[in-house]
Amino acid sequence: MGGPLVPDALRPEKLGGAPEASAPGLLYPELRRQNPEFTQEEAMAAVHQPQAIDPSAVDTDKLMSFVFRAVDEVGATLNTALVVMGDKLGLYRALAGAGPLSPAELARRTGISERYAQEWLNEQAAGDYVDYDPDSGRYVLPPEQTVALTDETSPAYLPGFFQIALGSVLDSPRITEVAKTGGGIGWHDHVRDVHEGCERFFRTGYNAHLVAEWLPALKGAVAKLQTGARVADVGCGHGSSTVLMAQAFPASTFVGFDYYNGSVETAARRAAAAGVDDRVIFELATAASFPGKDYDLVTMFDCLHDMGDPAGAARHVRESLAPDGAWMIVEPAAGDRVEDNLNPVGRAFYGFSTLLCTPSSLSQDVGLALGAQAGEARIRAIVTAAGFTTFRRVAGTPFNTVFEACP
Ligand SMILES: C[S@@+](CC[C@H](N)C(=O)[O-])C[C@H]1O[C@@H](n2cnc3c(N)ncnc32)[C@H](O)[C@@H]1O
Repeated sequence: MGGPLVPDALRPEKLGGAPEASAPGLLYPELRRQNPEFTQEEAMAAVHQPQAIDPSAVDTDKLMSFVFRAVDEVGATLNTALVVMGDKLGLYRALAGAGPLSPAELARRTGISERYAQEWLNEQAAGDYVDYDPDSGRYVLPPEQTVALTDETSPAYLPGFFQIALGSVLDSPRITEVAKTGGGIGWHDHVRDVHEGCERFFRTGYNAHLVAEWLPALKGAVAKLQTGARVADVGCGHGSSTVLMAQAFPASTFVGFDYYNGSVETAARRAAAAGVDDRVIFELATAASFPGKDYDLVTMFDCLHDMGDPAGAARHVRESLAPDGAWMIVEPAAGDRVEDNLNPVGRAFYGFSTLLCTPSSLSQDVGLALGAQAGEARIRAIVTAAGFTTFRRVAGTPFNTVFEACP
């Protein structure tokens, strides 16, 4: 805990002079004079301290409510790690349907240390993830939390969301570094929790909506898929969308493309495990150069904005489609204006965008960096500039918007 604490006496405003006189070069000698051990880095931190404001302008109630909100958020940040811990150690699954358990009972069922079980349970109780009964000293996972934390088939299933969030946070020191120069970090260059969390988080939405709502919203797509269509799923990651479509449409063939070989290999294993590898293949290719022509359907799930050159990808999709084919673009739900996205979903997506999507795009050629909250107008501009004659929003959820583009 703690950062480069600047003694009050060394703050720029206490050293006198106008803010512009507090440039590091001017301040550093003074700081060194007062404390010879003061480093240049600490001097930089010192000059970035806010200027003093008139104390009468501060509403103490508002200040304290902001501080307490921040306490809640620090707890939530730590809880992300504890949810992933509970998921990986099987703690939620052990609690699910088990009725009230003591820490010792949970520890016995999961093989973990009782002391850790107790501390983890207390944190979970403080956040209302589990209920605590002081009389018995036991903890219970309520039915709703049981669904959200253990039922992989539910659209409310959450562990993947936490896992990708934790992975993003774990990689954040590297993002902090590249933010200074505008450099990027590729999707491939993240911890495993990012890739696995992405698969597990998005799959719940695809399970719930892809076959039931999104594909039927495209003009004529389901009829073609039922009789036998050729589909390219570009930026397929671990292939959850590809496998799901293959399971639903046995007469069709699918090829998943991704620029990261680790994902392509995992996707191939997923297809084999699902028993659809006779009709699904995965290949290493970028969105702007994947092979094949005359596809009936090209899909992109939550990846167009991650690409360095989405305009180049759009042009290539158009060249790869059959004249009556369609491009389905699934993007994070977003309004066109920043102020449209200043809500809890937008907050989470701007967070992922800062730590994952923007660095991903900036790591590639062109580096357009659309961001996860690009919004319909910017996606439309890219698609129509590539020569698509129609572009329309066909479906959506609180998390995703689905567009159809036709050549
Ligand atoms: C957020 S993930 C989505 C993965 C998958 N579509 C899903 O929904 O689970 C973004 C994916 O885009 C891929 N990607 C990024 N840039 C790409 C490019 N230029 N060409 C192909 N794939 C790319 C990444 O490797 C990653 O698998």
